[in-house]
Amino acid sequence: MAGPGTTLVTALWFLLPAYLANMAPVFVGGGAPMDGGRVWRDGRRILGAGKTWRGFLLAPPVAALLYTGLEALARAGWLPFPPLAATPAWTFAFALALGYGALFGDAMESFFKRRLGKERGARWLGFDQLDFVLGAWILAILVSTVVAPVYGGVWFVAAFTPVILLVQLLATPALHLIVNWIGFKIGKKDVPW
Ligand code: CTP
Ligand code: MG
Repeated sequence: MAGPGTTLVTALWFLLPAYLANMAPVFVGGGAPMDGGRVWRDGRRILGAGKTWRGFLLAPPVAALLYTGLEALARAGWLPFPPLAATPAWTFAFALALGYGALFGDAMESFFKRRLGKERGARWLGFDQLDFVLGAWILAILVSTVVAPVYGGVWFVAAFTPVILLVQLLATPALHLIVNWIGFKIGKKDVPW
C-alpha cells in the first residue's frame, strides 16, 4: 500500500516528461513561428510569436531523452522513483507522447488566449497551469491505446490510475505557482505568477 507521500512523488515523476517538455522551449525555441505570422479573422495572430516550430519539435525529444536518462539512474537504484514503463525504450516512447501532447495543449491554449485578446505572455490563471497536462494526457491515452497490442496492455490505464490523475490535477497548479514565485524571487520573472 503506497503512502500519500509516495503517491505524490509518483504522480509528479510520471508527469515530469510533460513538465520538462513544457519548460524546454525557453531554451531550444525560437525562429519561425508555427502560425507563419498569419492573423485570424479577428485581426489577431493565430497563435502568436511565442509558439515556434523549433520549440514545438525539439522540446519533446530533448525532454524524453533527459527523462529516460534520469529513469536509468532510478532503475539502477540511484534515484527513488518507479519506472514509467516496462523498458527504457517504452519509457522514451511514452515520454515523447506526453511531451508532444503537452506542447500541443500549450499551442491550443495560445490559440484561445489570442481569441480572447490576451497578448503573448499574458497570464490566464488555471489554463496556463493545466493546458499542457490535458494535452499530455490526451496524446498519451491515444498513443498507448494504439500500441496496446505490442505493449501488452494500455500503458496509460496501468500507470495513470484515477488517484494519480487526481493528484496531478491538483498538485500541478500549485507546483507551477511555486516555481514561478521562485523565478520572481531570483529575478528571472517580472511577476510572481
Ligand atoms: N516557446 C517556443 N515554441 C513553443 C512554445 C514556447 O519557442 N512551441 C518559447 C517562446 O519563446 C515562449 C516561451 O517558450 O515565449 C515560453 O512559453 P509560453 O509561456 O507558453 O509562451 P508565452 O510567451 O507566454 O506565450 P502565450 O501567451 O502564447 O502562452
Ligand atoms: Mg502557455
